[in-house]
Amino acid sequence: MPQWYLCAVNTPFYRDFTLGILGGGQLGRMLVQACVDLDVTVAILDYDPMGPCRYSPIFEQGHYADYEDVLRFGRACDLLTVEIEHVNVDALEVLQASGKVVYPQPHILRMVQDKGLQKLFYAEHHIPTAAFELLDSGKALKPEQLPCVLKQRTGGYDGQGVAIIRTAQDIERKAFAGPCVREALVPIREEISVLVARNPQGEVAVYPPVSMVFHPEANLVQYLVSPAPLPEAVTTQARELACTVATRLGIVGLLAVEMFWTTDGELLVNEVAPRPHNSGHHTIEASYTSQYAQHLRAILDMPLGSTVQHTPAVMLNLLGAEGHAGKPVYQGLDQAMAIPGIQVHLYGKQETRPFRKMGHITVLGSTLDEAQERARQIESLLTVTT
Ligand SMILES: Nc1ncnc2c1ncn2[C@@H]1O[C@H](COP(=O)(O)OP(=O)(O)O)[C@@H](O)[C@H]1O
Ligand SMILES: [Mg+2]
Repeated sequence: MPQWYLCAVNTPFYRDFTLGILGGGQLGRMLVQACVDLDVTVAILDYDPMGPCRYSPIFEQGHYADYEDVLRFGRACDLLTVEIEHVNVDALEVLQASGKVVYPQPHILRMVQDKGLQKLFYAEHHIPTAAFELLDSGKALKPEQLPCVLKQRTGGYDGQGVAIIRTAQDIERKAFAGPCVREALVPIREEISVLVARNPQGEVAVYPPVSMVFHPEANLVQYLVSPAPLPEAVTTQARELACTVATRLGIVGLLAVEMFWTTDGELLVNEVAPRPHNSGHHTIEASYTSQYAQHLRAILDMPLGSTVQHTPAVMLNLLGAEGHAGKPVYQGLDQAMAIPGIQVHLYGKQETRPFRKMGHITVLGSTLDEAQERARQIESLLTVTT
């Protein structure tokens, strides 16, 4: 089968080839860096010209969720991908029908945008997931259906649009109006993420599971530990499960599969993200192939790279401090930089806000314990204020 991009490298076509990325946040920024390594001409579509992707060689101002903006941008590109899933899928379908290559495929983006459709997909394909039911409105919950986790079907991210409902009072106070998924409240022992890539040939490459530790107040990942310290059998099962999800989806590109390892020893798929993911930042320094390079290999129809992790790593999200909004100041960075084995990534956001992802730090160590000890030191040193 033709590997069209590899062929193109040796033709004049290559010079005219442009990869378009919808979204200009930090994931796009690191994807652009990987594009530079492969000498891929890259264009970004984002509404904020001062955002993390302002260094992109081509920057198109417009909204990735706007039909006309996506259509206009897409027509000028040869291949399209995303760094965020909340994009205008109608426009991507029109572009695909006109012959543009879109990876991940638009129908997968459409499914992922709706947590209800995602759950139906898992059920249909016998992929283990928390028991669920679809509701026309979260307000229709009945006391006998509690406790449960209520999720808005569309529009949620980073814990926005997810609520644990335990009492009748919670229904009044916290339940969302509009279409929701009601899920069984799962006893979570560990939240893990498994990255997997698939290319158009059907080749699949899966990374070791990563353990995610959430911030107690903000519903975001505070840090992650890789490889996740799990029993061997659970690691193997998690990797197989991620491959199954990618294969059943038939996705081309990178897929992050978020899972729960329950106190009963079950592995359940929570949700997926069809793009590079926060849980894969450490692969830049700790793995043979970074998740960004891997995503490019997959969508450009190249052989996938090795997913071996050569060094234990902790990834700390640098979140905006509470009570601070405005131009960011990275307090304690000079002291943190003196700790061996760390790599700082600042996203260049013009404004900090409480719990906003402002950057991340990859902390390497010869053992996971050493990396964790270094990470603890950094956490006590570094804050993002104004
Ligand atoms: N069924 C569940 N049982 C227990 N906790 C859950 C369940 N579903 C989600 N959670 C918790 O809520 C968090 C956010 O839910 P998730 O579906 O991942 O939404 P988001 O799109 O905001 O990441 C999860 O990381 C997990 O901690
Ligand atoms: Mg999630």
